[in-house]
Amino acid sequence: MPTSATVSAPGKLFLLGEHAVVYNGSCLVTAVDSRLWLTLTADESSTSPTLTINAPDVGLANWTCPLKESFFRPAYQGPSSFIESSIAVFHRRYPFHANLKIETRSDFGANLGLGSSSATVAATLYALSVVFNADLSPEQLFAMGVEAIQNVQKLGSGADLAAAIYGGTIYYLNHYPRQITPLKIDSLPLMVVYSGEKAGTVSYVRKVAELEENWPNVISSVIETMFTVVDSGRERLLAHDWVGLGQLMNIQHGLLHALGVDTLSLAEIVFAARRSGALGAKLSGAGGGDCAIILVDDAHRAEVRTALQHKKILDVQANAPGVRTEKRD
Ligand code: PMV
Repeated sequence: MPTSATVSAPGKLFLLGEHAVVYNGSCLVTAVDSRLWLTLTADESSTSPTLTINAPDVGLANWTCPLKESFFRPAYQGPSSFIESSIAVFHRRYPFHANLKIETRSDFGANLGLGSSSATVAATLYALSVVFNADLSPEQLFAMGVEAIQNVQKLGSGADLAAAIYGGTIYYLNHYPRQITPLKIDSLPLMVVYSGEKAGTVSYVRKVAELEENWPNVISSVIETMFTVVDSGRERLLAHDWVGLGQLMNIQHGLLHALGVDTLSLAEIVFAARRSGALGAKLSGAGGGDCAIILVDDAHRAEVRTALQHKKILDVQANAPGVRTEKRD
């Protein structure tokens, strides 16, 4: 009898500290209620197991291969890479012999920069752990997820994965021993706006690394300042001091601009929002496109919306729950 599980994992937004977190630093990241849904079916009766993936958001329709191939790929590339890499990592620790069928769909699509790759990794590992009764703790899921992501893109702080697994809003410290600290807040008055451009995280992380090679002292000061911004932001967030947090978001955006990852479209959103009374606005993530986030109180929300009506405003809420089992549709 095939067994199956349906799970979902949230997307994420960087509140403060992106790029700095790659340099053994810290960041604040929040999970968003735009989720990646995944159904995994395992059939242990098969003698030569295969993997089949249906993931329309990344263009996979009945994509299939012998399961063994997924375990030992020299490089994980293309739209199936994060699922295959997660399966390989899980199988090394919890060997199984079964046909796997995976179907995904996301509330947000793969192009908005809301963390579809990390949500896919979190959801795949979690669904495997449910179906094969592995009973993994969030710490174990996280360690396996970091390995799965590294096998695909060779870099990454893991902060987006932490948001997908733990959910909520997190202070994340990326040096040994890694710290993932959930921050207790009830709400976060954010507005999220898509820039219209798709950014490549890996290329922008490399771009900053090149700048750092050319200007080590200058760039390390920028990164150090970001560490302070994150620490102050953590305090302001816990105190629900939105005015202070907004100012720190503006400062972080300025520092990201200094790192060369801002774009005209992101800057236009940020400036239009601030001009309309937002408390703070910044790009979120690696830069080069994707989304801007705006901290805005109720009194100015309508005005900011009007100023950005020609842009794609995303209907997402911050501080969403982490990866979890869902009832079948
Ligand atoms: O572009 P995103 O949303 O995947 O965010 C990348 C954030 C970086 O700090 C630049 C990289 C990382 O792995 O943390």
